[in-house]
Amino acid sequence: MVRTAGPQISWPPVDINTAVAVTAQLYSAVSLPGRTGIIAELEGKLAEFFGVRHAVATSSGTAALHAAYSALGLAEGDEVIVPAYTAHPTATPLFHLRVKPVLVDCDELGNIDPLQVEAAITPFTKAIVATHLWGVPARIEALAEIAERRGLRLVEDGSHAHGAAVGGRRVGTFGDVAAFSMGGSKPLSAGEGGFVLTDDDDLHHRVLLHGQDGARCRGEIPIDHPLRRYVVTGTGLAQRIHPLAAALALGQLDELDRRLGGRRQLAAHMIAELRGLPGIGVPEVPARVAPAWYALALVHRPEELGGLPVDALVAALRAEGCLEVDHPRAPRPLNEHPLFDAPNRMFPNLPEGWPRYRAGQYPRAERRHRNTLTVTVPHDDPALAEGYVRAFRKVVTHHRTLIEPT
Ligand SMILES: Cc1ncc(COP(=O)(O)O)c(C=O)c1O
Repeated sequence: MVRTAGPQISWPPVDINTAVAVTAQLYSAVSLPGRTGIIAELEGKLAEFFGVRHAVATSSGTAALHAAYSALGLAEGDEVIVPAYTAHPTATPLFHLRVKPVLVDCDELGNIDPLQVEAAITPFTKAIVATHLWGVPARIEALAEIAERRGLRLVEDGSHAHGAAVGGRRVGTFGDVAAFSMGGSKPLSAGEGGFVLTDDDDLHHRVLLHGQDGARCRGEIPIDHPLRRYVVTGTGLAQRIHPLAAALALGQLDELDRRLGGRRQLAAHMIAELRGLPGIGVPEVPARVAPAWYALALVHRPEELGGLPVDALVAALRAEGCLEVDHPRAPRPLNEHPLFDAPNRMFPNLPEGWPRYRAGQYPRAERRHRNTLTVTVPHDDPALAEGYVRAFRKVVTHHRTLIEPT
């Protein structure tokens, strides 16, 4: 038994500094015009943290992705290569832009497989999108090389991976543009929110026109920009972050690297202890890759545990007190969503030849999803991490007692 009361890990961590920062913002301004106050401060800190020229805070990760795709000038007839295994908002903004998502299966870590990306490129392909699933970076250098060689744009959905890095370089800085969610328990959380990163001035201006206000667009978009005359309306969407959310995120950002350091240590310990246990596959992450461990995603191998169903394994672990173990329903392979099979009742005017995806088309993603167990990794509680390891050992050792006789 680990511990009985939950939640065992609460994220984002909220302390007195968080309360003071959010309350101070509450008394100073709950609505901010243009790029001012706490929003400007957050964007400045984000740009500095990632080492990019521009950061634009948004109301959600979905809004950030929508703005990024729109800024790239994607249009009807274009195709974008998207991971089959990701959260649906990685792709759904493309439906609104009438741009076809072309799904590609995953590699052994659950991320988009660069070899299969290459095979999916057509004369209509304009961009490749990578999600760093559960905070483990995709093979982003290989994807950047493909994008460069084939003249395509590279978009990163960093929603699970704030602060993750490859070879010392943070994810979100490898492509033309990156979008991040700050919703829920994401590594950097504003409760609800998101942001876009880019080094490209023109993309930045186009991002602003998609959801930021007129005052801001007028203040930042140069007089000679081809879209300058649209500064008042932009595309007509309002997708700005709330100042209280910005205040919450700003405090989290100051602590992010330190907390991720703690998570990495404890994740490394858990992986080392769980490796070799029958029925449990651990992520084998190359040494130069530093994940954000949004969760530690393990892969259940029922054939090594007498066919024990994944839900029975999760129930047994929870009974041992592992309250932060889950068999997540999302992200899930996009081809399993009705929207990707029969989108027309949601989007009646999609262009001819819109792809229809069916269950069974992405075997690696589907198998992985069926067998994924996630464990929330503590950043400052080695005893809890050790308790989880012991519980896994116990449940695996006694798995036969969990299998119902047929
Ligand atoms: C990979 C990924 N991309 C995008 C999003 C969308 O973010 P939001 O919920 O902030 O719109 C999520 C949300 O969970 C996500 O997991």
